[in-house]
Amino acid sequence: MTVQKALIPVAGLGTRFLPATLATPKVMIPVIDKPPVHFCVEEASLAGIDHTVLVVSPGQESIAQYFNRRLDLESALVQRGKDELAQTIRLISQMSDVSVVVQEKQLGLGHAVLSAEGAIGNNPFAVFLPDDLILSESPTIGQMVDISEKNEGMVIALKKVPDEDLSQLGVAEVKNTKKRISEIMSLVEKPSLESAPSNLAVIGRYILTKEIFDSIRDLKPGALGEIQLTDGIASLLGKIPCSGYEFEGEHFDVGTPLGMLKASVYIGIRRRDLKSKFTQWISDLN
Ligand code: G1P
Repeated sequence: MTVQKALIPVAGLGTRFLPATLATPKVMIPVIDKPPVHFCVEEASLAGIDHTVLVVSPGQESIAQYFNRRLDLESALVQRGKDELAQTIRLISQMSDVSVVVQEKQLGLGHAVLSAEGAIGNNPFAVFLPDDLILSESPTIGQMVDISEKNEGMVIALKKVPDEDLSQLGVAEVKNTKKRISEIMSLVEKPSLESAPSNLAVIGRYILTKEIFDSIRDLKPGALGEIQLTDGIASLLGKIPCSGYEFEGEHFDVGTPLGMLKASVYIGIRRRDLKSKFTQWISDLN
């Protein structure tokens, strides 16, 4: 059964983006003019995944309105001769069938995934962490779906990172790497540098199977005192196949101001409508 649903946890305090997050959920703070949650739903849609479950914190249900059809706005844009923009807005509402699950308490990423169990059902599903923006020619999640169809199990996106980043991330021990795909032997969440099994970090794209829900239910709080998704996956290793995929493409941690700035510049110097004036402005800075 191929992957049809995407789970996107969007709850969280967004402390690294205060004060902006006093009034705006972090996933809605745009990279130029597109919020991170848009990039995730778009990546899913390009891979043929057209159902999205947003896990929000109480009071953030309105994030889903971003994906509603806006006939009033579309006709106002058409009346002003902005047909292309009207089409862009309409396409957003057509990318996915979006539903919302409220995570009553913020007990960690694993807990957020477990909150969506009823909405996800029994089939393998994709998880996107919107802090991780990946720009690549073909959608990373689509490649991961292909791998999961072959291994009939789980797939986790991996990236080599410098030593100093390891203690902030999940880290994998792998073997038998071929064409960027490996077998995952162990996983540890936010290890110290000494205990990190490698420099291969977990990046926020996963294909998971239904067994993850029971596995998370059995967990005790892990790193940072939270119910960690990494721990739930780790306890399935050896029982369910789990592949690591060192994806191609550019990755940005848009959950930090620096990553957001880098992503904005990376996109800005490439985007047809911006690149000429923006690159000129940058070169004038020097
Ligand atoms: C989460 C995961 C971690 C992963 C990271 C990638 O951590 O728990 O394994 O490496 O996302 O962005 P968080 O950023 O929520 O602390």
